[in-house]
Order: sequence, then structure tokens, then C-alpha cells
Amino acid sequence: MGDGVTQATGPLRFDGRTVVVTGAGSGLGRAYALEFARRGANVLVNDLGTAVDGSHAGASAAAAVAAEIVAAGGRALPNTDSVLDGARIVTAAVDAFGGIDVLVNNAGIIRDRSFAKMSEEEWRTVCDVHLTGAWRTTQAAWPHMLGRQFGRIVFTSSAAGLYGNFGQANYSTAKLGLVGMMQTLAREGAAKNVYSNAIAPMAATRFTRDLMPEALAARLPPEQVVPLVVVLAHEACRENGALFEAGGGWFARLRWQRSHGLRFTPGEDFAAEDVAARWQELTEFGSDADYPASVEDALRRLIGGRP
Ligand SMILES: NC(=O)c1ccc[n+]([C@@H]2O[C@H](COP(=O)([O-])OP(=O)(O)OC[C@H]3O[C@@H](n4cnc5c(N)ncnc54)[C@H](O)[C@@H]3O)[C@@H](O)[C@H]2O)c1
Repeated sequence: MGDGVTQATGPLRFDGRTVVVTGAGSGLGRAYALEFARRGANVLVNDLGTAVDGSHAGASAAAAVAAEIVAAGGRALPNTDSVLDGARIVTAAVDAFGGIDVLVNNAGIIRDRSFAKMSEEEWRTVCDVHLTGAWRTTQAAWPHMLGRQFGRIVFTSSAAGLYGNFGQANYSTAKLGLVGMMQTLAREGAAKNVYSNAIAPMAATRFTRDLMPEALAARLPPEQVVPLVVVLAHEACRENGALFEAGGGWFARLRWQRSHGLRFTPGEDFAAEDVAARWQELTEFGSDADYPASVEDALRRLIGGRP
């Protein structure tokens, strides 16, 4: 939907901008917060201070990162509200710095369990933090951004959501749900210069400590995801509604690909057996696959036109 970074000349500075990073007390969020501050932003360092599974709230991770920023000469304010109280986070940023320009929805937890054994509480808690948390925080930031006709929002998806991952039905659902939220907000904010994009990061953090061999972890410092988030957050960024993968110094964009498809002519009778018999035709991407990027694109082929 966007046309990329078209106005980036020179250093990407954030002087006078206010950036809210949720879950900025550790891992990726901390790395984002430090870099935005280094580039001149006022940073609202939000973190509830939880364990990876969302338990034991109360640690002062946000205060430690904010202190680190201030010690380095930057401007930061710690905030320990849950993203489920997103309005309080946004109010804290607006009260302290006079507005909100950038929101990085980064806070997250995992409660992994195979689908057969996953409790509703495990499902709900993970969906609440990722989906409802991002929804509430973004909803509170939205009117400020629309009102000032400027906003950059980064949502945090995951390979687990894009591709699925054993034991993560709750997390995968939430993480792909955030891509859907991002795509709709990209449309709703476009005319007011409020752009939304999503990333699926890969980094060695508390999250991945038990999942990654040490040699791989050493190749995936969180700092190597940061440049993409900085680009997406900058006023020069014209990207809107896009999804990226980032990790270990590698960056790429993802999109949907659709097979040419199987069409029965209008009036022709067809049943499940006919669909099954032509399965290859239906599923093969072949040379004329297309890349629908909107509901209109999707409909065009459905009703018989070319994309
Ligand atoms: N590390 C990876 O490889 C990876 C891969 C895909 C997606 N992600 C996503 O990136 C984001 C950051 O993860 P990370 O790897 O840095 O993990 P992390 O555990 O270091 O950071 C997550 C932070 O969110 C905070 N948090 C949890 N619940 C919160 C709440 N309700 N309100 C406010 N803060 C809360 C935690 O206290 C923690 O500091 C998460 O959304 C995660 O799902 C990470």
C-alpha cells in the first residue's frame, strides 16, 4: 500500500518526537527504546516487569531502562502499566511529553502447551496481552495521531503466527491476528499520515533462551532487528500496511501469494468430487500466481476478472 521510504536523506533523527515502546524493559523492546533515545526521541519506556509467561509483575525493568537512557543523556520516562491498561500508558506519554508520535506494540508473553492440553486460561491470557493489549494501547494513541496528522505504529508479529509452531496455538493466533489489525489500521490511518506496519522479529532474548542453541543465539542479537523498526517509525517512511521479517542482520518483506485457481464456468454444475479431481489446478502457484493486497483484489478474481 505504501511506496517505501522516499524521503530519508541523512540520519534518521527523532528530535521532538515521542516514542512509546511497550514491553521495553528487556529484550527487543529495550533495544528499541535505547536506540530511539539515542536518536533524539522522548521515550516512554513501558514494561509491566513480568516473567516470560506473564507472571510475577512488579519488577522495575522499565525504571532500569529509563535510567540507562537518562544516564546516557537521553529523555525517558518509565511506566509500569500493563498494555491491557493501554490508555494509561498513552496518557503518561502525553502528560510528560505533550503527545505521541510513534507506538511500538512490542510487549508479549508466552504460555506454550500442546493444543490438546492448553487450558482456556492459557489461551485467554496470551491473546489478552498480545491482541487486546495492542488494541487498547493503539486505540488510545489513535485519536492523538489522527488529530496531529502524524503517527507511525509498529506491530510485533512472529514466525509462529505466520507459519504455525508446535505448542503455540494461543500465541500463533494472537500474532497473526495482529497482522490483520495492522492491515486494517493501515487503511484507516492512511489519509491522515498514520502508518501501520508489522514485523516478525527473530532475536536471542528471554523468550528464545530455551529454544535456541547457543551458537544460533549468538548470531541473533536484538540490536540487529532495531534498524527496521527505526525506519518504520520515522516520518520519512512511506511504507504502510506491510509485514517484514527481521533478525541476524537480515530483513525481508512478506506478502500473500495466491494460486491461479480453479474456476467453474457460470451455470456449470460442480461438486466436491470435481474440486478433488482438479486439486492440482486449484493449488498450484505456477507462473501466473498473483499477490492480492486488498479485499478488492481478492474479489476481482472471485467474480471472474483478472487481478
Ligand atoms: N525474541 C524473538 O525471537 C521473538 C520472535 C517473534 C516475536 N517476538 C515478539 O517480540 C516481542 C518482544 O519479545 P522479546 O523476545 O524481547 O521478549 P522479552 O520477554 O524480553 O520482552 C517482552 C517484555 O514484555 C513485557 N510485558 C509482558 N506482559 C506485559 C504487559 N501486559 N504489559 C506491559 N509489558 C508486558 C515483559 O515484562 C518483557 O519485558 C514480543 O511481542 C514477542 O512475542 C520475539
